[in-house]
Amino acid sequence: MQKLFLLSLLGLLLFSCKHNPTMVQSHKHLIADTAMVVSANPLASKVGVQILKQGGNAVDAMVATNFALAVVYPRAGNLGGGGFMIIRTPKGTATALDYRETAPAKANKDLYLDKDGNVIEGLSRNGGLAVGVPGTVAGLYAAWQKYGQLKSWQKLLAPAIKLAQNGFAISETEAHRLNKYKNDFLKWNPDNKTFIRDRWLKGDVLKQPQLAQTLQLIAQKGPKEFYEGKIAQAIVDKVTKSGGIIKIEDLKNYTPKFRKPIVVPYKNYRVISMPPPSSGGVALGQLLEIVAQYPLKQWGFHSYKTTHLMVEAEKRVYADRAKYLGDSDFYPVPVDSLLNPAYLKQRMADFSLDKATPGSAIFAGYFQLHKESFETTHISIIDKDRMAVSCTTTLNSNFGSKVIVDGYGFFLNNEMDDFSAKPGVPNQFGLIGAEANAIAPHKRMLSSMTPTIVTKDNQVFMVLGTPGGSTIITSVFQTILNVVDFDMNMYDAVQAKRFHHQFLPDYIMFEKKSFSQAVTDSLKQAGYKLKQVKYMGVVKAILLRQGQLEGAGDTRNKDDDVEGY
Ligand code: GLY
Repeated sequence: MQKLFLLSLLGLLLFSCKHNPTMVQSHKHLIADTAMVVSANPLASKVGVQILKQGGNAVDAMVATNFALAVVYPRAGNLGGGGFMIIRTPKGTATALDYRETAPAKANKDLYLDKDGNVIEGLSRNGGLAVGVPGTVAGLYAAWQKYGQLKSWQKLLAPAIKLAQNGFAISETEAHRLNKYKNDFLKWNPDNKTFIRDRWLKGDVLKQPQLAQTLQLIAQKGPKEFYEGKIAQAIVDKVTKSGGIIKIEDLKNYTPKFRKPIVVPYKNYRVISMPPPSSGGVALGQLLEIVAQYPLKQWGFHSYKTTHLMVEAEKRVYADRAKYLGDSDFYPVPVDSLLNPAYLKQRMADFSLDKATPGSAIFAGYFQLHKESFETTHISIIDKDRMAVSCTTTLNSNFGSKVIVDGYGFFLNNEMDDFSAKPGVPNQFGLIGAEANAIAPHKRMLSSMTPTIVTKDNQVFMVLGTPGGSTIITSVFQTILNVVDFDMNMYDAVQAKRFHHQFLPDYIMFEKKSFSQAVTDSLKQAGYKLKQVKYMGVVKAILLRQGQLEGAGDTRNKDDDVEGY
């Protein structure tokens, strides 16, 4: 009798586990020998590891993790967005994959201006007109076709389909975000109740049956269904209904692009990162080349001299970014000149150890201040054969444009806001852009995403990246210096406090406790203004040293998670 009771209890427990998914714990630090995945959510990292254990390589795992994030991290993981990937094969060949969104054919440089030529508030950030032609599904498929090892595309989507169908227990952060954007969801999607509750709480189960069906269609029919089939038509219908201009031809014509990555030396290392239309690789390369000329290690971590140098380098690099960076298929971005050591030496010619260089002395013309977006996400993976993939993907803002495709359950990006709405003239947010990043049909908007792989002695050494808008570049920069120059392990390098300067506004953004009082005083004395922010960057990184993988998630995001074996 007692045995029967225990069995029934066990059955009940199993039943409730099956129907009430429980929270999965996240790990911020892990050492492993074989393979590793770091992402913004433990359910997604576990999917990546599951694929690796099933014989998939790092690219297979990346694809599956991305699809899982589209379910469990809907504010940035996506089907309706885009991203960038750096892939390095076990033989040492590196490729950059660009699946950034494009401007629709009907877009033009005055898209967000009123009849008087003023930027219309919010138009590039909310609703249908904010949406760029999504690249994610085509990009993930292209990565898998070229580099994947598993023969079955469906296998890569199966875990995401299950998560969408069965639901998962949401974290505290996810509950907070869903509550925060409830009114936006209702405004653009009055008939969609998937993301609507009186109040979401940690542990509540989010089921997404429509998204499960969409993923099923993509699994069975491939990206064609997304770009030419029923899903494409539903995207066009919803974008049109929400005030946008994407047509079916825009989707049909979308193509991801394999590009030559930016590769720069840094001391005994090589840094491989993203070329335009991201500014990430060029800016990171410039920063590293500049600081390589100074004795950072001797000056010390976050000392006055080190901070001052890094800030002065950042000011010059962000000024360059604003003027010269954009989609290189549309604008002749002078990548080689910007990375030329002689140019960078000359750029620092007026650097003085004693005082801050005023902005006006660095760049007399206009510049673009990149708008903050902390809702991008990053995945780092190394597999058993040491294939490495670094991938950053985004909808831009939290849940992108907030527009959900009716019947298909996924959010569309608001990436059009990454263009300069009005080149050469400041808009109402104080953002100023240049011709290089002006809107044009089919053009890709400038990004700061910086998926990066660092090698040493022709072996993978580090894989890293982060969300954080314009602070992405400086967060990756600092994490590399923390390991290479300041001898930190991966975990400490990721958790270390960060600061950032992007030329204008003319202040150093810093996280609490970044600097000692003495350093703060010296920085002020040199002429700097300082502004404390809550946090910047949420780095996900793996270090491969002496055959061992050390993975680090960022404690700045409670859900960041490392999985490995
Ligand atoms: N949407 C943020 C970025 O691409 O930089």
